[in-house]
Parts: sequence; structure tokens; C-alpha cells
Amino acid sequence: MTRPWWRNAVIYEIYVRSFADSDGDGVGDLSGIRSRLPYLRALGVDGTWLTPFYPSPGADHGYDVSDYVDVDPRLGTLEDFDVLVADAHALGLRVVIDIVPNHTSSEHAWFRNALSDPQHADRARYVFRPGRDGGPPNNWTSAFGGPAWTLDQASGKYYLHFFAPEQPDLDWHNETVQADFERILRFWLDRGVDGFRIDVAQALFKARDLHDMQVPEPRPPFGDWLTALQQPELHPLYRRWRQIADGYPGGRVYVAEIVLEDQVALAQYVRPDELQLAFNFTFLHEQWNAEALRGRIRETLDAFGGVGAPASWVLENHDVTRLPTRYGGGEEGRRRAKAAALLLLALPGAVFLYAGQELGLEEVELPDECREDPIFFRTNGEQAGRDGCRVPIPWSGGPPAFGFTTGTPWLPMPHAWVELTVAAQEHHSSSSLAFHRTAFALRRESEALREGMFSWRESPPGTLLFERSDGGATVLCAVNVDGDPLELPAGDVLLASEEVGSLLPPGAAAWTRI
Ligand code: NOJ
Repeated sequence: MTRPWWRNAVIYEIYVRSFADSDGDGVGDLSGIRSRLPYLRALGVDGTWLTPFYPSPGADHGYDVSDYVDVDPRLGTLEDFDVLVADAHALGLRVVIDIVPNHTSSEHAWFRNALSDPQHADRARYVFRPGRDGGPPNNWTSAFGGPAWTLDQASGKYYLHFFAPEQPDLDWHNETVQADFERILRFWLDRGVDGFRIDVAQALFKARDLHDMQVPEPRPPFGDWLTALQQPELHPLYRRWRQIADGYPGGRVYVAEIVLEDQVALAQYVRPDELQLAFNFTFLHEQWNAEALRGRIRETLDAFGGVGAPASWVLENHDVTRLPTRYGGGEEGRRRAKAAALLLLALPGAVFLYAGQELGLEEVELPDECREDPIFFRTNGEQAGRDGCRVPIPWSGGPPAFGFTTGTPWLPMPHAWVELTVAAQEHHSSSSLAFHRTAFALRRESEALREGMFSWRESPPGTLLFERSDGGATVLCAVNVDGDPLELPAGDVLLASEEVGSLLPPGAAAWTRI
């Protein structure tokens, strides 16, 4: 029996606004993505995950959906979507789309109805509660800063929003909400999508008592402390969703965005009859430190292996600072990021890449007046927010638009990117792009790298050494994180993150076939 495609897929995240603009308005769109599908094909990834492209007022750039079964007119039409999926499939690329079930836009007809008439049936789709002691119903704060409740002046009740006030949370205990989302899933499955990335998948149900929660200081990047989320009702819900997906041919997949540090808790969502994949975000918040990385790999493989599900690996996405910058920036950050890519692609399971990661893009320092992320505004500028990793992709040429648009890019693109455009990197064998292409190709061709058994080998402090073996071939992955120069094991070097002799310097990695 062939193993499902998603078990070891490489999936490339496209932040739709920032990938490619076809109509000159400075914002990426579906036809722009379609025109760049050959690039993805040549890159060698298995498919793409598209961030939300639904009609949206844009308070959180698409994560505030005002209609779940249409395309934002600024980004295209349903017909454009259909052609994009058909073209992607013709090229052998899968298309996974984002679904945002935790909250709608405040402009969604359901919420408008809820506000306009407290007796309206749609009011019950949301979480409206009376205040407590002259303030909000409980002590919950929004992930974007400020309280998680906003007063509806007309009724004197508060509504819940874990994110911006323009993103009211749905009440998943309401069966109409559940039924609607089943229809929404089917709508897109019928259109041929290969799966869904589920936004804030651990948050849909809130504990019925809406109990106070103690926020650790500073607020951690993981949500393990959010005891009123992660409710048991999620499991039967996701079992039903799984049944829906399994009713379609071709292996439709769910990828849960569940921001938990505890991998054992996370793995509960990918038991055999629930969701197939859940992002493992532990690398996103980990230093370039061998023991820390080893610990993360161990706990992830143990937890996911324990339920028979594939692990998943993520170094970047549209919510975090770009990797070379996290790893120290400049030459050092770029070297480490390339080494980390070899680590990522040699681990068992699915890999998620963020557009631009293959180009080695760094975080962009933006002037405050250009910022658009609600996090910047809701923290009064205390937190810069996520715009710096969302700057559009540089395709060719130079400023201001680097081939991204014929207009003005929605965020300014740095002059230094002249050397990092796809066109500039394409024909340089030593470029980050060429390196990633080779790595993806090797992974595709190597049964050992994709399916092989994983086992650690002993290695000196500051280094990681493990092998993937499928019985016939064995590939070794050696990463010198921050150790002394590491003697490379004997064998053919398939790929190294930089030119190496027999010694691997710190900040470098290599795959060898033995
Ligand atoms: C997670 C998404 O990745 C992020 O971009 C968004 O702001 C929140 N969920 C809210 O939808």
C-alpha cells in the first residue's frame, strides 16, 4: 500500500498578499500565484499552503474572514481559484488552504446580525456575556494585546475576541456553527483542495465556565497555560472533520495550528482517526544550540511516534521573525539557516517552508509608518509585530518592486535584496536558492531521507549526528551547531551547507551517503 503523500511532504507556505501581484495594485493575488507555479515546480516542493484569500476587511490581513465561500475581489475570483488549483494539480503540486474557524470578521453578516439585534439567532453564534464588577466578564487578554472582550454599547454586553476586536470568536458549542463549517469544508473539498491548515485549532471551544486564567509574564509564545482552551470537545469535532475529508479521494489532509510546547499534548490531536498533521513550533522559539535542538527532536519524535503520526518541522512562517535574523543575522545567521535547512529536511515527517526561506531572506526593519500588523497598534508600538517577515518576494530586478508588482508593493522592499532576487540566485550554483533546490531534489529521490528509520549516532558536544536508513541506503545528517570542527563520517557528501573538507565547522551541516 502506498503511504499517504502528506506523511513526508514538503509544503511551501504562500502568504498570499506577498507572493506575486498580477494586477499592479501592490498586493499579491491568486493569478500572481498561478503565474509562479512553475517556480514551485522547479523548486521541488510537494505543494503549497495558501494563507486566507477570502473576502476580508483586512484587520488581520485575511485572518478576519467576512465570507468563507468566496474569494476577496482584490485577490481574484472563484474562477481564478479553480484555475489555480487545476494548474497546480497539472504540475503535480498539492494545494492546502487556510480555514479560520475560531473567529469571523466583525463584518461577517453573522456578526452584523448579532450586533444589530440581540434577539437575532446569529447572536448565539458568538460569545456575548454580561460584564463583571463594572469591567469585562473575566480577565482574559487578547493575543494581540489589550483585553479579549469589547463592550457592545447597545446591549451593554461584552463579546469575546482572542485576537483583534474585529475578529469576534465564534461559540463552537453552538451546533449551527458546527454545521456551517462542515458545509464550508465540503465547499472547498468539492473544488478540489488537497487539505486545510486549521487556524488556532486548539481554541475553538472555550471552557463553559469561562474561568479566569493566569497569564505568565512575559506572555509565552506557546499556549499551554491557556486552560480554558484545548477543550475535550475538540476531539469528536476533529474526528468528524476527518471523516468528511476521508470521504474524498486523493488523501485530503488537515494540518492543525496548535501552539503548544508540550508535544505529548499536541500529539493527542493527530491520533489515527483525528487530524493528520499538527505544526510542531518548538524550533521557532529555540536557540541555535545543539542540546536544545536535540531535546526538541527527541520529544517530538517520541510523542508523535507514540500515536503513530508523522512529526512536522517548521523553522519559519508568517508570524515569526525570519530565521537568519533569529540566528544572529548577517553572514553568521545566513550560514546557520542553511545548516538548519539540512537538519529540517533530514528529519522524519512533513516539512513546512515559508516563501522566501529558500532565498535566505532576513527580517526587514520597517519604518513605523509602514506597519500594518494589528499587534503593533494594539501594543502601542511596544511590539513591532509581524510585518518584517511579510515583505513581498523579490523576483527580479531592483527597487522599488523587484518584479513583485508593476505598482507599489504594499510593504517597502529593501534595496539590498537586489542580490537575493530569484533571478539573481537562479543561475548561481552557490546561492541559497540553488542549495534548497538541490536539497529538495535529494530528499525526493532518496527513499532513506523520506521514509528511512531514524537513529541517533554519538557525536561530540555542540553537534548533532543521526542517520536515516531504509535497509538499503543510509544517509547521515551531521550538523555542527556550535561545537569544535567535526570530523565528517566517511562516505559520499551528497550536500553540504557550504564548501567543506573533511571537517565540518560550527554553523554548517552535511548529508553523506554511507
Ligand atoms: C494564526 C495566524 O497564523 C496569524 O497570522 C493570525 O493573526 C492568528 N492566527 C489569528 O487568526
